[in-house]
Amino acid sequence: MADGKQICLDLTEGVKIPALGFGTWQSSDEELEKAIDCALKAGYRHIDTAYAYENEKALGRVLKKWIDSGKIKREDLFIVTKLPEIGNRPSGVVKYLQRSLDYLQLSYVDLYLVHTPFGYYERGEDLHPMTEEGVIDIDVSTDHNAIWKAMEDQVLAGKARSIGISNFNEKQIERIWNSAERIKPSMLQVELHLYFQQKDLVNFCHAKNIKVCAYSPLGSRGSSQLLGKELPDVLNNEVVKEIAEKHGKTPAQILLRHIIQRGVAAIPKSTNPQRILQNIQVFDFELSSEDMNKLNDQDQGKAGRILDFSFFKGVPDHPEYPF
Ligand SMILES: NC(=O)c1ccc[n+]([C@@H]2O[C@H](COP(=O)([O-])OP(=O)(O)OC[C@H]3O[C@@H](n4cnc5c(N)ncnc54)[C@H](OP(=O)(O)O)[C@@H]3O)[C@@H](O)[C@H]2O)c1
Repeated sequence: MADGKQICLDLTEGVKIPALGFGTWQSSDEELEKAIDCALKAGYRHIDTAYAYENEKALGRVLKKWIDSGKIKREDLFIVTKLPEIGNRPSGVVKYLQRSLDYLQLSYVDLYLVHTPFGYYERGEDLHPMTEEGVIDIDVSTDHNAIWKAMEDQVLAGKARSIGISNFNEKQIERIWNSAERIKPSMLQVELHLYFQQKDLVNFCHAKNIKVCAYSPLGSRGSSQLLGKELPDVLNNEVVKEIAEKHGKTPAQILLRHIIQRGVAAIPKSTNPQRILQNIQVFDFELSSEDMNKLNDQDQGKAGRILDFSFFKGVPDHPEYPF
């Protein structure tokens, strides 16, 4: 297992996702272009973006450069993007996936995700339309089953190789699962890290053969400004540091390896060349079951959640708010 080679997870027949991918949220275009260049050189092939990150054009420019120069083949990449909240309706699936493809300069994505179970009204280009009362203008008519049918159509149209969901809870996943007549969701992307291990949700998904991808796997320390609070520092956890020292690895590598050894994918974000390289070097060692148990014990359950989207005022009032 620890032969230095990337581990892949089977999503659907013939579609494999590299377990360690690259996160792109909260980077400027300039930072991101350099970071993607660096990530591709370091061996990343799975790249996670979203229409709402407003960086698909920058990513598309780098991908085009690499593909045109022959340094990489399109089929060797695994590109993930997501339907924005303002597009959370069947017509939005068609419109926003096509926009993402145009921005990314691709004819298909490898995985298209419904970014959140809640939706907003569409008011021009505004990603966070507000009411006069200063809260997000939520569209309470969000219909997951209808959205899912449009998602399935995108696979049949060749615009997405696989489809999934993000930030959905068990009840919402079950509902889509039961209604999906043609294609079941193959991936759930959720917050998951040392202090919020999502053990029940992972078991629930794995029992349905839905793979899980961990976002904010290093504790999203860059989000403290956005959230206006100090975030728990998983990288400085004593158990993590002790295991890191034993293996001659960094705390980030231990955190990522812990997730991957649970059969879950992870998409750490970095714009720092050394950390980009470090984060993918997690395939040349293995955590023992004793290490795994110690790390599993660091879980804080629901108290460990960082991102609940309540920083967008009004969102928790949506009937499909998942948390
Ligand atoms: N589906 C969703 O709703 C959703 C929500 C959140 C995130 N995501 C996805 O998940 C990705 C990752 O999550 P995230 O960006 O919230 O947080 P993260 O990957 O947990 O943490 C990123 C932060 O950790 C730092 N960092 C990276 N590698 C490090 C290392 N080896 N040692 C020390 N610090 C390190 C980064 O700083 P430097 O850049 O300076 O290295 C950055 O501040 C996102 O970029 C996005 O693609 C999805």
